[in-house]
Amino acid sequence: MIAKTKSFRRRPIAIGNWKMHMTLAEATAAARQLSELLGDARLVEIVIAPTYTALQAVGEVLKGTGILLAAQNVHWDDQGAYTGEVSPIQLKDAGCRVVLIGHSERRTIFGETDEMVRRKLIAALREGLSAVVCVGETLEQRRTGQTAAVVRAQLEKGLADATNGLFDRLLIAYEPIWAIGTGQVATAAQISEVHALIRQHLAKILGPDSAEAIRVIYGGSVTPGNIADLAAIKDLDGVLVGGASLKPDGFAAIVKTLEKARTGPH
Ligand code: 13P
Repeated sequence: MIAKTKSFRRRPIAIGNWKMHMTLAEATAAARQLSELLGDARLVEIVIAPTYTALQAVGEVLKGTGILLAAQNVHWDDQGAYTGEVSPIQLKDAGCRVVLIGHSERRTIFGETDEMVRRKLIAALREGLSAVVCVGETLEQRRTGQTAAVVRAQLEKGLADATNGLFDRLLIAYEPIWAIGTGQVATAAQISEVHALIRQHLAKILGPDSAEAIRVIYGGSVTPGNIADLAAIKDLDGVLVGGASLKPDGFAAIVKTLEKARTGPH
């Protein structure tokens, strides 16, 4: 029998993670600028993750623009005595469509484990949110040849409840910890190698068709200056941008370059 080949292309995505930056006034002004700069971008899916206190206000500004609102974290229960936490239902209520899960800053600074990632992922997907699960190795782990094992373990545990039905809203972000906020972007070879192993793992747990459909993106010192090289990497479906997303014109330039690469010949 001839194997079925899928010829569809995954829609590229650019996510701006504003982390713990910007006041309400700054966040809404940046969102306004972004909607002016990117309101007509259709080929690239655009997502902005402001700090919790600005979610609703930024969501109001983005309404009707096609730019989606994301949260940077989520709890796994719908409600309860969890001081300082926010549930998936509350995020949806505030206008979120997407959530980041297991960002390395959550893991390394706040002790988030793969088990928490697993619970958060299932909860977010169950509530209808799209979830961006972040994985990546430290510099020491890379230097000692553990990158593949570390990323595989994060996926194995974090996606342990994977079932095809729920996982059509899953994205994976490969964010090597040594590349985050350091100005040291991973090379094309490093990114390709890890993206390939991520897709292999997805194929193993969800089957080849789902693995082919899920977007795998890169994060770590992405800037308007290096996005053209990144966009040329085969099997890179988009970027998760920290520092460079704080400037609307810089983030817009990143989106436009991704868009151009998509309309190009490769
Ligand atoms: P930088 O783009 O500042 O390196 O941050 C990457 C990141 O952590 C995005 O989630």
